[in-house]
Amino acid sequence: MIAKPKGTYDILPVEVNDWVKLEEVVRKVCRLYNYKEIRTPIFESFNVFHRDLNDTSDMVTKETYDFKDRSERLITLRPEGTAGVARAFIENKLYVDNPVNKLFYMGPMFRYERPQKGRNRQFNQFGVEALGSNSPLIDAEVIALGTSLIRALGLKDVTVKINSLGDGESRTNYKNVLVDYFSKYKECLCEDCLDRLEKNPLRILDCKVDRDKDFFINAPKIKDYLNEESKNRFKEVLDALDGMQLKYKVDDNLVRGLDYYSHTVFELEVNIPEFGAQNVIGAGGRYDDLISDLGGPKTDGVGMAFGLERLLLASDYSNKVLARENSIHAYFIALGDNARSEAIKLMNVCRIGGLSCDMDYMASGIKSQFKKADKNNARFTLILGDEELNEYKINVKDNLTDEQERISLYDCYPYMVNKLNKQSACSSCHLKGDSNEKND
Ligand code: HAM
Repeated sequence: MIAKPKGTYDILPVEVNDWVKLEEVVRKVCRLYNYKEIRTPIFESFNVFHRDLNDTSDMVTKETYDFKDRSERLITLRPEGTAGVARAFIENKLYVDNPVNKLFYMGPMFRYERPQKGRNRQFNQFGVEALGSNSPLIDAEVIALGTSLIRALGLKDVTVKINSLGDGESRTNYKNVLVDYFSKYKECLCEDCLDRLEKNPLRILDCKVDRDKDFFINAPKIKDYLNEESKNRFKEVLDALDGMQLKYKVDDNLVRGLDYYSHTVFELEVNIPEFGAQNVIGAGGRYDDLISDLGGPKTDGVGMAFGLERLLLASDYSNKVLARENSIHAYFIALGDNARSEAIKLMNVCRIGGLSCDMDYMASGIKSQFKKADKNNARFTLILGDEELNEYKINVKDNLTDEQERISLYDCYPYMVNKLNKQSACSSCHLKGDSNEKND
C-alpha cells in the first residue's frame, strides 16, 4: 500500500460537510465586509516567495517546497496566500480600476514543518488582503472581519493580540537598540537567533526557545522607539477597535514570523489547552512594501489569514456550530419490488424539486433500511409497502418532530417542502443559513 505523504491527510466523506459549512460561513462573512474572492495558482515562481536574501523567516528559509519543473524553471508551492495575491494584483493591474481592492482567498498552502496536531505540511488557509489604503481604519476592519468569523463559528475564548512595528525609521532605530542589547547575550542566543542578530534582529523576539528567559523579558520594547507618526497611527487603529467595542490585548513582544510586516501586526489565539503551541488560529498585519518589492507600484496592504484546520478543530472543541451533519432530506424505505419502482419515481420528482433523497437498492429487510435512514441522518423517513401502495399513499415520518402521517403519493413532495420552509422561516439567520436553505 502506498501511504499519503507525511504531514498530509485525507478529508473523508463524513468530514467534508464540515468543510463545506466552514467555507459557506467564510463567504458570508466576506460578503458582509465586501471582500471579493480571488483564486491564484498553488505554485508560483520561486522569486514570489524568495524575494530577499536577508529574509530570516522560517517559512521562507526552511519550509518552502521548491523544485525545478521539466523546463528547469524554479517553482515554489505556495506557503501562504499574500505574496501570490500581490503578484496577481500587479500582473493583472487590479489597481487601475479600483484604488482599493478588498480580496479574499481559500485554499491549500504547503510548508515543510514538523507535523503535529493543527500543523500540517499541506494545510488550508482563508485569507483577506486589502490593497491600496494606508488608513488605520482598514487595519481595524480586517481585525473586525476576523472576529466576525470567530463569532459566526461560535468560537469562545479567543484573544486578539496586537502590536505595532512602526514605520521603517522606527524599526531601524529599534533594530539598532536590539542589536546592542542582544549582542551582550550572544552566548545565550540559539543558533537561529545568532543569524537573526545579523540579518533581522526584530525576529529574535519571535524566538520560541528563549522567550521565557529574563534577558528576553527585559529586552527593550518597540513601543518606546516608535516615532510620533507611528505612535499616532497605532493609536488610531486601537481607537477604531475601541469604537467597534472589539476587545484586544497589546502585546509588546509580538513581531510575527514573516518579514514583510510594518506598523500593525496581530494574532488571534484560542484558549484551548489541547492546542498547545498551535493556538494561533489566525494572524496578519500591514505590509506597505511587499507590492513594490515584487515590482509593482507602491501600494499599501493589510491582511490576515486563518488556518482552516485550526478553525475546524476549535469549533469541534467549542459549541459545534459546524456539527457533523451529513444529512439528506428524505430516505425512502421501500418494501418489495413494486414499492421500490414507485420509490425511484418519487425520488426523481423530489430531487428535481431540490430535495436530497436516497433509498436502499439491496432489497434489505425493514430493520436494516431504518438503520440506513438513521445513518444518513435523514430529516424524513418515507415508508412504502404493498398496503400503502394499494391506497396510493405513503407513510412519512418527520424525524425532527417525530410526527408520522400517511399521505397521498401526490402530496409527498409538497408535504416535505412545506415542513422544511416552515422550519427555515423560524430559524433563519443571515450567518447560519439562507432562508431558502431546505435542510439547516
Ligand atoms: P501565518 O501566521 O504564517 O501568516 O499563517 C496564518 C495562519 O495559518 C496561522 O495562524 C495558522 O492558523 C495557519 N497555519 C500556518 N501554518 C500552518 C500549518 N503548517 N498547519 C496548519 N495551519 C497553519 C500568513 O500566512 C500570512 N500570509 C497572513 C497574512 C495575510 N498577513 C497579511 N496578510
